[in-house]
Amino acid sequence: MADRELTFEIFRYNPQKPETKPYLQTYKLKETTGMTVFVALNMIREEQDPSLMFDFVCRAAICGSCAMIINGRPRLACKTLTKTLPAKIKLFPLPVFKLIGDLSVDTGTWFRHLSLKTESWIHTSKTFDPKAQEERMDNKTALEIYEAERCIECGCCIAGCATANIREDFLGAAGINRVARFMVDPRDERTPEQYFEVVGSEEGAFGCMGLMACDDNCPMELPLQMQLAFVRRKIAKIGLGVKEKKGVKLA
Ligand code: SF4
Ligand code: SF4
Ligand code: FES
Repeated sequence: MADRELTFEIFRYNPQKPETKPYLQTYKLKETTGMTVFVALNMIREEQDPSLMFDFVCRAAICGSCAMIINGRPRLACKTLTKTLPAKIKLFPLPVFKLIGDLSVDTGTWFRHLSLKTESWIHTSKTFDPKAQEERMDNKTALEIYEAERCIECGCCIAGCATANIREDFLGAAGINRVARFMVDPRDERTPEQYFEVVGSEEGAFGCMGLMACDDNCPMELPLQMQLAFVRRKIAKIGLGVKEKKGVKLA
């Protein structure tokens, strides 16, 4: 396997030069032991083509910057070993997000919009007291919040989502996961009706087709299927006027 010659076919386009057309450029590279798509892209940029655009920060599947379509699937370049792929590797930028150039997209603006739309902060009437002791939270709730917060905002769930590809206002699995995170948080004082406003529409839980590409594509293996089902159940109950207590468990 380590002696393979890899052929990369990479999408090239610079939207700053609208007079040019998108095309696929081919690069060849000797595979090395433990090579990731990210390492291969760096070698191509250093040794063959300094103009190639792609994003990375952490190189350790933490920052979410290097997501791209690798042989048809949204994945993290720094987490994808070339030995798990055939010798011919096709790379495209993530759809849905604004293209910066080649494989680089702007996920930041999209996720900032998501944070504002879902009002991703604790809504509380309590005034902040810096001298107050930290409030305790039961371990189970803390773990449920932690699980939802493992999202690295890579955009893989959005890029592979049929609804997000046809509706630019759709919150997607990352957005619905974010709402679930606040729904289980006992410090957040939003009423069920306020949550319904955020996610009880075609832009939210009702726009989801439920085919679970998001769950398959999440590199952090977040339990998106469970989160979507949880939010859908809650929203349906609110819609039907069923009263429920705050902080209901996810499972
Ligand atoms: S299950 Fe819903 S959120 Fe997930 S990919 Fe399908 S439509 Fe998108
Ligand atoms: S939910 Fe998963 S796939 Fe979606 S943005 Fe977060 S880490 Fe990426
Ligand atoms: S470079 Fe940070 S997730 Fe890949």
